[in-house]
Amino acid sequence: MFFSASLLSYALLASTVLAAPSSRGKTSKTATITTTGPTSTATSSPPLSAPGPAILSSNIWAGAGMESPENTYQSVTGTLVVPHLQPATGGAIEGIYGGSAWVGLDGMTCQTSLMATGIQFIYFNQTILANAWTEVYPNPSVDITSMTVNAGDTIKLTLTATSTTTGTAVVENLSNGQSSTVDITSPSPLCLANAEWIVEDFEEGTFLMPFANFGTITFTDASATTRSGSTVGPSGDGSHIINMVQSGRQFASASCAASTVTVDYLTSIPF
Ligand SMILES: *[C@@H]1O[C@H](CO)[C@@H](O)[C@H](O)[C@H]1NC(C)=O
Ligand SMILES: *[C@@H]1O[C@H](CO)[C@@H](O)[C@H](O)[C@H]1NC(C)=O
Repeated sequence: MFFSASLLSYALLASTVLAAPSSRGKTSKTATITTTGPTSTATSSPPLSAPGPAILSSNIWAGAGMESPENTYQSVTGTLVVPHLQPATGGAIEGIYGGSAWVGLDGMTCQTSLMATGIQFIYFNQTILANAWTEVYPNPSVDITSMTVNAGDTIKLTLTATSTTTGTAVVENLSNGQSSTVDITSPSPLCLANAEWIVEDFEEGTFLMPFANFGTITFTDASATTRSGSTVGPSGDGSHIINMVQSGRQFASASCAASTVTVDYLTSIPF
């Protein structure tokens, strides 16, 4: 996703650490996902135990994603608590760190599109800033300004594809029932082949945000619905776990169960 210009300008007001980023830059489709250790492969004999999710790694993503044939998925949802951020392990208390957490369709294998909605969060000198956004590839992300978000809020994210080029994002504060609904139009068709729950270390142009220590983010009530009307959980058929690895160091690890995706911060120094 993109760096929020308003949060950035606030955070940079007193920061002498960073030069202003040069341009807004798409990040989600540049996540490099590599297979590091699939746990299930097709075999001619029955496996001894049920295969678990395939394990992938990405430089900027951690979480879980489902992969299925095209035209499988219709919607994806998950609920998270906006984290009380800490500086990166070993990082300065007066520093700036960030990340985002989102649900999306088609972030993994679809080359033509990606639709997502989520929360961006930034730590700056003991202040935590957060905002909700939507994004459709390759357009810039759009902040949801009709709704503010605070650390500690329980936020439900739901993204529904209403056709292969249109969707609806609903961001709801479950703590008080306030919600915002945003219509999204994609310039190119969705594949509807992936649903994902992701914590991201986002980039702005070529600048990679120092990853904030978010502790643990758990997407609860995580599920996707299919176009045929069934509900599937993140550990179902086609599930992948995505761990974040930068420069050979694991920054975040992920796990999933029937209706949860859990992402644990490990480290993010050096940067
Ligand atoms: C961080 O906040 C403290 C207390 O408000 C302030 O004295 C200090 O100048 C701030 N540091 C930066 C880099 O803005
Ligand atoms: C979300 O709801 C909680 C509980 O009512 C409230 O404290 C919080 O301020 C709400 N967040 C926003 C951004 O309105």
